[in-house]
Amino acid sequence: MMRFLNVLLATKVLSLTTLVASKQATNYVLPNLINGSIPSASDHTVGFEAYDRPYNYPHNLTSYEWWYFDAVASDGLSSIVIQPIVLGPPLGNGTQLRIQLVFPNGSSIYRKIDYKVGKPMYVSTKGDGSSGVIGGGDASWVGQPDLSEYALKLDLLDEEISGTVTLLSAASPFVACQELNPEARTDLFWYLNWINLVPDAVALVDLKIGRERLAFTGNGYHDKNWGPYLFNSLIDQWYWGHGRAGDYSVVWFYLIPKTGIADIKALGWVSRNGEVLYSSCAEGNDTTITVKPYGEGVVFPIPGPNMTSDIDGFDITFNPSSDSGKGGYGKDEGFAFRFTKKIYTQADLDQYARWIGSIEGGPIGDDKNATGSALCEQMGPFFDLAHHPLQ
Ligand SMILES: *[C@@H]1O[C@H](CO)[C@@H](O)[C@H](O)[C@H]1NC(C)=O
Ligand SMILES: *[C@@H]1O[C@H](CO)[C@@H](O)[C@H](O)[C@H]1NC(C)=O
Ligand SMILES: *[C@@H]1O[C@H](CO)[C@@H](O)[C@H](O)[C@H]1NC(C)=O
Ligand SMILES: *[C@@H]1O[C@H](CO)[C@@H](O)[C@H](O)[C@H]1NC(C)=O
Ligand SMILES: *[C@@H]1O[C@H](CO)[C@@H](O)[C@H](O)[C@H]1NC(C)=O
Ligand SMILES: *[C@@H]1O[C@H](CO)[C@@H](O)[C@H](O)[C@H]1NC(C)=O
Repeated sequence: MMRFLNVLLATKVLSLTTLVASKQATNYVLPNLINGSIPSASDHTVGFEAYDRPYNYPHNLTSYEWWYFDAVASDGLSSIVIQPIVLGPPLGNGTQLRIQLVFPNGSSIYRKIDYKVGKPMYVSTKGDGSSGVIGGGDASWVGQPDLSEYALKLDLLDEEISGTVTLLSAASPFVACQELNPEARTDLFWYLNWINLVPDAVALVDLKIGRERLAFTGNGYHDKNWGPYLFNSLIDQWYWGHGRAGDYSVVWFYLIPKTGIADIKALGWVSRNGEVLYSSCAEGNDTTITVKPYGEGVVFPIPGPNMTSDIDGFDITFNPSSDSGKGGYGKDEGFAFRFTKKIYTQADLDQYARWIGSIEGGPIGDDKNATGSALCEQMGPFFDLAHHPLQ
């Protein structure tokens, strides 16, 4: 089958629809943990199977993998993050569900639930989409084969959290810096793989929390990360976020590894009405793409833990790119955005901050900016190797 597809692809006669339709529907039961010094079968390319599938199979004791979904309200005052994770011992055994809810008054709920082997996570793919159930139904999702829609459901009995999150995709999927095809590499670094299934979506959130409600529409998002090896000892900090300003959908990522700022890896991506306007990467001393926190007394890069509370926002600049080949867009046009925080939360411990708020910007040099809402994060700095971000 694989070889057959290969041949067809090589002759470039296969339309995307045909390819999606011909992808095998596949069932997985997670975790599928193996113990010992055995390499995890961690994929580093998109491959010929569903885009939204488990990419580590089986998992070993150092591999990790998560599905990430979020939505931020149009006014930048409420949000939800739902994150099913596969995580080996000792950090999990290994499936875990993380949920964060942010309310307009600034209060938030954060839950991290570990499930033991009796409650596996089920994931099934059809076309490029995945559907899944974690925690015996605490959270579930249904993804359409063409990634056009994800319908999520929460039903945490003990927490009295229930309701639905619907994401209608408003942008096409991507991997960093390349055309999305079976050969495209997903590894930004060998220990960090990334595929963006729904870079922007129209989101509808309707939840009940005890006697309270959290309901809004706004921007949604879904991506996936995985790796063969826990990355805390290799990464200093990263900034990531997404949003929509006017009709510009934006995703940014800026990673500073432990080896220092001279080895950064950055990604900028902008699309409008489904058309990609900018999709590029920068690394090392290339300052084409910059993401910088600002605020009174804020030092860049953030020098230590618990130093994110003064950050007022991030300046995000995608300069015209020299990135030809590799599917780079945006050679002529650059973009600049400013994210301004409305609500700041510590997503987990002191090494994982998250903000929601407003975003303003557009093509560099335009005399009028577009505005909207966005969600962003800082992970790290990872100062203590005994701490892991997923702990
Ligand atoms: C892995 O195997 C070793 C040796 O058999 C054992 O000591 C250890 O407890 C196992 N770890 C897990 C997480 O099962
Ligand atoms: C898990 O597999 C990866 C390769 O895919 C390897 O680098 C890592 O050392 C393995 N972990 C263990 C505990 O064997
Ligand atoms: C973890 O899972 C393994 C099988 O995958 C099982 O043998 C072991 O008992 C589990 N450990 C805990 C603490 O649940
Ligand atoms: C904020 O809103 C939440 C949800 O409605 C509510 O439970 C909480 O009590 C409010 N907190 C304050 C300080 O008003
Ligand atoms: C960061 O702040 C949290 C909560 O205030 C505290 O528990 C933690 O110890 C602090 N971490 C460091 C490294 O100071
Ligand atoms: C638009 O926003 C960008 C990013 O903050 C800023 O650099 C630029 O000056 C703004 N342009 C206008 C016309 O306000």
